[in-house]
Amino acid sequence: AAKITTSVIRQRKETGKKITMLTAYDFSMAKLLDDSGIDMLLVGDSLGNVILGYDSTLPVTMEDMIHHTRAVSRGAQKAMVVADMPFMSYQVSVEDALRNAGRLMKEAGAQAVKLEGGREVRAAVEAIVQAGIPVIGHLGLTPQAVHSLGGFKVQGKSREDAKKILEDAKILEESGVFAIILECVPALLAEKITHSLAIPIIGIGAGAQCDGQVLVTHDLLGIYSGFSPKFVKKFADLHSSVTEAILGYKTQVENGTFPGPEHSFPIDSEILERLY
Ligand code: KIV
Ligand code: NA
Repeated sequence: AAKITTSVIRQRKETGKKITMLTAYDFSMAKLLDDSGIDMLLVGDSLGNVILGYDSTLPVTMEDMIHHTRAVSRGAQKAMVVADMPFMSYQVSVEDALRNAGRLMKEAGAQAVKLEGGREVRAAVEAIVQAGIPVIGHLGLTPQAVHSLGGFKVQGKSREDAKKILEDAKILEESGVFAIILECVPALLAEKITHSLAIPIIGIGAGAQCDGQVLVTHDLLGIYSGFSPKFVKKFADLHSSVTEAILGYKTQVENGTFPGPEHSFPIDSEILERLY
Protein backbone atom coordinates (compact mmCIF):
# COMPACT_ATOMS: atom_id res chain seq x y z
CA ALA A 1 0.00 0.00 0.00
CA ALA A 2 1.22 3.49 -0.82
CA LYS A 3 2.21 5.72 2.07
CA ILE A 4 -0.13 8.44 3.24
CA THR A 5 1.63 11.66 2.24
CA THR A 6 1.25 15.29 3.29
CA SER A 7 -0.66 15.94 0.04
CA VAL A 8 -3.16 13.19 0.93
CA ILE A 9 -3.66 14.86 4.32
CA ARG A 10 -4.01 18.35 2.81
CA GLN A 11 -6.58 17.07 0.29
CA ARG A 12 -8.84 15.86 3.08
CA LYS A 13 -9.70 19.51 3.71
CA GLU A 14 -11.44 19.61 0.31
CA THR A 15 -12.81 16.07 0.11
CA GLY A 16 -14.15 16.29 3.65
CA LYS A 17 -13.02 12.74 4.47
CA LYS A 18 -11.97 12.89 8.12
CA ILE A 19 -8.34 12.32 9.08
CA THR A 20 -7.78 9.62 11.69
CA MET A 21 -4.69 9.83 13.86
CA LEU A 22 -3.73 7.77 16.92
CA THR A 23 -0.66 7.49 19.11
CA ALA A 24 1.73 4.56 18.73
CA TYR A 25 4.92 3.91 20.66
CA ASP A 26 5.91 0.40 19.55
CA PHE A 27 6.01 -1.97 16.59
CA SER A 28 3.04 -4.19 17.49
CA MET A 29 0.60 -1.36 18.08
CA ALA A 30 1.85 0.48 14.99
CA LYS A 31 1.07 -2.63 12.94
CA LEU A 32 -2.41 -2.99 14.45
CA LEU A 33 -3.25 0.64 13.73
CA ASP A 34 -1.73 0.51 10.25
CA ASP A 35 -3.65 -2.67 9.38
CA SER A 36 -6.83 -0.95 10.58
CA GLY A 37 -6.29 1.88 8.10
CA ILE A 38 -5.51 4.71 10.53
CA ASP A 39 -4.06 7.57 8.45
CA MET A 40 -1.42 8.91 10.82
CA LEU A 41 0.52 7.39 13.72
CA LEU A 42 1.72 9.92 16.27
CA VAL A 43 4.74 8.94 18.30
CA GLY A 44 3.61 11.38 20.96
CA ASP A 45 5.76 12.56 23.80
CA SER A 46 2.79 11.29 25.80
CA LEU A 47 4.97 8.17 25.82
CA GLY A 48 6.54 9.86 28.84
CA ASN A 49 3.29 9.26 30.73
CA VAL A 50 1.99 6.14 29.00
CA ILE A 51 5.17 4.10 28.49
CA LEU A 52 7.75 5.55 30.87
CA GLY A 53 5.54 6.42 33.86
CA TYR A 54 6.50 10.08 34.27
CA ASP A 55 3.80 12.44 35.51
CA SER A 56 4.36 14.86 32.62
CA THR A 57 5.94 14.95 29.17
CA LEU A 58 8.77 17.22 30.30
CA PRO A 59 11.42 14.56 31.05
CA VAL A 60 11.11 12.92 27.60
CA THR A 61 14.40 13.04 25.67
CA MET A 62 15.37 12.99 22.00
CA GLU A 63 16.81 9.51 22.60
CA ASP A 64 13.42 8.32 23.94
CA MET A 65 11.67 9.74 20.88
CA ILE A 66 14.16 8.24 18.42
CA HIS A 67 14.00 4.82 20.09
CA HIS A 68 10.19 4.63 19.92
CA THR A 69 9.86 6.30 16.51
CA ARG A 70 12.16 3.64 15.04
CA ALA A 71 9.95 0.87 16.38
CA VAL A 72 6.77 2.52 15.08
CA SER A 73 8.33 3.17 11.66
CA ARG A 74 9.02 -0.55 11.30
CA GLY A 75 5.33 -1.31 11.86
CA ALA A 76 3.82 1.35 9.59
CA GLN A 77 3.44 0.32 5.95
CA LYS A 78 0.84 2.87 4.89
CA ALA A 79 0.23 5.26 7.77
CA MET A 80 2.27 8.45 8.04
CA VAL A 81 4.56 8.40 11.07
CA VAL A 82 4.70 11.72 12.93
CA ALA A 83 7.21 12.18 15.76
CA ASP A 84 6.77 14.69 18.56
CA MET A 85 9.68 17.01 19.25
CA PRO A 86 10.26 16.66 23.01
CA PHE A 87 10.45 19.53 25.50
CA MET A 88 13.61 21.64 25.02
CA SER A 89 14.51 20.06 21.68
CA TYR A 90 13.30 23.12 19.70
CA GLN A 91 13.05 26.03 22.17
CA VAL A 92 16.71 26.90 22.71
CA SER A 93 17.68 27.86 19.17
CA VAL A 94 16.58 27.46 15.58
CA GLU A 95 19.75 25.47 14.87
CA ASP A 96 18.91 23.07 17.66
CA ALA A 97 15.33 22.73 16.43
CA LEU A 98 16.46 21.97 12.89
CA ARG A 99 19.09 19.48 14.00
CA ASN A 100 16.65 17.61 16.24
CA ALA A 101 13.87 17.57 13.63
CA GLY A 102 16.42 16.15 11.22
CA ARG A 103 17.37 13.37 13.64
CA LEU A 104 13.74 12.26 13.93
CA MET A 105 13.56 11.95 10.14
CA LYS A 106 17.05 10.64 9.42
CA GLU A 107 17.75 8.37 12.38
CA ALA A 108 14.22 7.35 13.32
CA GLY A 109 12.29 7.23 10.05
CA ALA A 110 9.52 9.75 10.78
CA GLN A 111 7.71 11.36 7.82
CA ALA A 112 6.88 14.53 9.76
CA VAL A 113 7.51 16.16 13.13
CA LYS A 114 5.17 17.94 15.52
CA LEU A 115 5.98 20.71 17.96
CA GLU A 116 3.95 22.78 20.40
CA GLY A 117 3.27 26.50 20.32
CA GLY A 118 2.36 29.41 18.05
CA ARG A 119 4.20 32.67 17.30
CA GLU A 120 7.06 31.75 19.66
CA VAL A 121 8.07 28.76 17.49
CA ARG A 122 7.62 30.54 14.16
CA ALA A 123 11.34 30.77 13.31
CA ALA A 124 11.92 27.11 14.22
CA VAL A 125 8.96 25.97 12.10
CA GLU A 126 10.14 27.99 9.10
CA ALA A 127 13.66 26.60 9.29
CA ILE A 128 12.44 23.00 9.60
CA VAL A 129 9.95 23.38 6.74
CA GLN A 130 12.63 24.98 4.55
CA ALA A 131 14.82 21.94 5.12
CA GLY A 132 12.08 19.81 3.55
CA ILE A 133 10.70 18.39 6.78
CA PRO A 134 6.90 18.47 7.08
CA VAL A 135 5.74 20.03 10.36
CA ILE A 136 2.49 19.73 12.33
CA GLY A 137 1.65 22.49 14.82
CA HIS A 138 -0.01 21.97 18.20
CA LEU A 139 -2.14 24.67 19.87
CA GLY A 140 -4.61 25.00 22.72
CA LEU A 141 -3.67 22.81 25.66
CA THR A 142 0.01 22.18 24.99
CA PRO A 143 1.17 19.72 27.68
CA GLN A 144 4.83 20.77 27.58
CA ALA A 145 3.62 24.17 28.84
CA VAL A 146 1.57 22.66 31.68
CA HIS A 147 3.38 24.68 34.33
CA SER A 148 2.86 28.04 32.61
CA LEU A 149 -0.73 27.17 31.71
CA GLY A 150 -1.37 26.35 35.37
CA GLY A 151 -2.59 22.79 34.84
CA PHE A 152 -4.49 20.70 32.33
CA LYS A 153 -7.53 22.79 31.48
CA VAL A 154 -9.62 23.92 28.54
CA GLN A 155 -7.92 26.74 26.60
CA GLY A 156 -9.38 29.66 24.64
CA LYS A 157 -12.39 30.31 26.82
CA SER A 158 -11.93 34.08 27.10
CA ARG A 159 -12.21 36.35 24.06
CA GLU A 160 -8.56 37.32 24.43
CA ASP A 161 -7.35 33.70 24.63
CA ALA A 162 -9.58 32.60 21.75
CA LYS A 163 -8.21 35.43 19.59
CA LYS A 164 -4.63 34.45 20.43
CA ILE A 165 -5.19 30.81 19.46
CA LEU A 166 -6.80 31.81 16.16
CA GLU A 167 -3.92 34.21 15.41
CA ASP A 168 -1.35 31.56 16.32
CA ALA A 169 -3.09 29.09 13.98
CA LYS A 170 -2.81 31.60 11.13
CA ILE A 171 0.85 32.30 11.96
CA LEU A 172 1.62 28.57 11.93
CA GLU A 173 -0.16 28.21 8.59
CA GLU A 174 1.93 31.07 7.15
CA SER A 175 5.05 29.46 8.59
CA GLY A 176 4.38 26.37 6.50
CA VAL A 177 2.90 23.70 8.79
CA PHE A 178 0.72 21.25 6.81
CA ALA A 179 -1.71 20.59 9.68
CA ILE A 180 -2.42 21.71 13.23
CA ILE A 181 -3.47 19.71 16.27
CA LEU A 182 -5.89 21.63 18.42
CA GLU A 183 -6.16 20.28 21.95
CA CYS A 184 -8.83 20.95 24.53
CA VAL A 185 -10.55 24.08 23.20
CA PRO A 186 -14.29 24.81 23.00
CA ALA A 187 -15.93 23.12 19.98
CA LEU A 188 -17.17 26.39 18.48
CA LEU A 189 -13.69 27.93 18.60
CA ALA A 190 -12.23 24.83 16.93
CA GLU A 191 -14.93 25.07 14.25
CA LYS A 192 -14.09 28.72 13.60
CA ILE A 193 -10.37 27.95 13.32
CA THR A 194 -11.09 24.98 11.05
CA HIS A 195 -13.09 27.22 8.70
CA SER A 196 -10.53 30.04 8.83
CA LEU A 197 -7.57 27.95 7.67
CA ALA A 198 -6.74 26.17 4.41
CA ILE A 199 -4.78 23.41 6.19
CA PRO A 200 -6.40 20.54 8.12
CA ILE A 201 -7.14 20.94 11.81
CA ILE A 202 -6.92 17.72 13.82
CA GLY A 203 -8.79 17.94 17.10
CA ILE A 204 -8.49 16.29 20.49
CA GLY A 205 -11.09 17.58 22.90
CA ALA A 206 -12.00 20.15 20.23
CA GLY A 207 -15.40 18.99 19.00
CA ALA A 208 -16.59 17.24 15.85
CA GLN A 209 -16.11 20.00 13.27
CA CYS A 210 -12.34 19.61 12.91
CA ASP A 211 -10.94 17.98 9.76
CA GLY A 212 -9.77 14.99 11.78
CA GLN A 213 -9.35 13.56 15.26
CA VAL A 214 -6.48 12.25 17.34
CA LEU A 215 -6.51 10.31 20.62
CA VAL A 216 -4.03 8.50 22.82
CA THR A 217 -4.55 4.85 21.83
CA HIS A 218 -4.19 3.60 25.41
CA ASP A 219 -7.05 5.94 26.38
CA LEU A 220 -9.48 4.76 23.69
CA LEU A 221 -8.67 1.13 24.50
CA GLY A 222 -9.57 1.71 28.15
CA ILE A 223 -6.27 0.36 29.48
CA TYR A 224 -6.47 2.51 32.63
CA SER A 225 -9.09 2.12 35.32
CA GLY A 226 -8.54 5.57 36.84
CA PHE A 227 -9.34 9.12 35.74
CA SER A 228 -9.42 10.02 32.08
CA PRO A 229 -10.21 13.42 30.57
CA LYS A 230 -13.73 14.33 29.40
CA PHE A 231 -12.70 14.20 25.73
CA VAL A 232 -11.68 10.54 25.93
CA LYS A 233 -14.16 7.95 24.73
CA LYS A 234 -13.29 4.42 25.76
CA PHE A 235 -14.05 2.28 22.70
CA ALA A 236 -12.99 -0.84 24.63
CA ASP A 237 -12.42 -1.91 28.22
CA LEU A 238 -9.00 -3.49 27.94
CA HIS A 239 -8.39 -2.94 31.63
CA SER A 240 -11.04 -5.57 32.39
CA SER A 241 -10.19 -7.99 29.59
CA VAL A 242 -6.44 -7.85 30.22
CA THR A 243 -6.91 -8.25 33.99
CA GLU A 244 -9.21 -11.22 33.36
CA ALA A 245 -6.65 -12.85 31.07
CA ILE A 246 -3.81 -12.33 33.55
CA LEU A 247 -5.84 -13.72 36.44
CA GLY A 248 -6.74 -16.71 34.26
CA TYR A 249 -3.05 -17.38 33.64
CA LYS A 250 -2.19 -17.00 37.33
CA THR A 251 -5.00 -19.34 38.44
CA GLN A 252 -4.14 -22.03 35.89
CA VAL A 253 -0.40 -21.96 36.65
CA GLU A 254 -1.13 -22.20 40.36
CA ASN A 255 -3.63 -25.04 40.02
CA GLY A 256 -1.57 -26.92 37.42
CA THR A 257 -4.04 -26.77 34.50
CA PHE A 258 -1.65 -24.69 32.41
CA PRO A 259 0.34 -25.77 30.49
CA GLY A 260 -1.77 -28.71 29.24
CA PRO A 261 -0.56 -31.59 27.05
CA GLU A 262 -1.47 -29.50 23.98
CA HIS A 263 1.12 -26.90 25.00
CA SER A 264 3.84 -29.45 25.81
CA PHE A 265 6.39 -31.30 23.65
CA PRO A 266 6.32 -35.14 23.59
CA ILE A 267 9.28 -37.49 23.49
CA ASP A 268 9.50 -41.29 23.27
CA SER A 269 9.90 -42.36 26.91
CA GLU A 270 12.54 -45.08 25.94
CA ILE A 271 14.94 -42.30 25.07
CA LEU A 272 14.94 -41.17 28.64
CA GLU A 273 15.26 -44.66 30.22
CA ARG A 274 19.05 -44.77 30.68
CA LEU A 275 19.29 -41.12 31.50
CA TYR A 276 19.12 -41.53 35.26
O1 KIV B 1 1.79 13.35 22.80
C1 KIV B 1 0.64 13.16 22.36
O2 KIV B 1 0.04 12.08 22.50
C2 KIV B 1 -0.04 14.28 21.71
C3 KIV B 1 -1.48 14.12 21.35
C4 KIV B 1 -2.34 14.03 22.54
C5 KIV B 1 -1.95 15.17 20.40
O3 KIV B 1 0.58 15.29 21.49
NA1 NA C 1 2.60 15.46 22.53
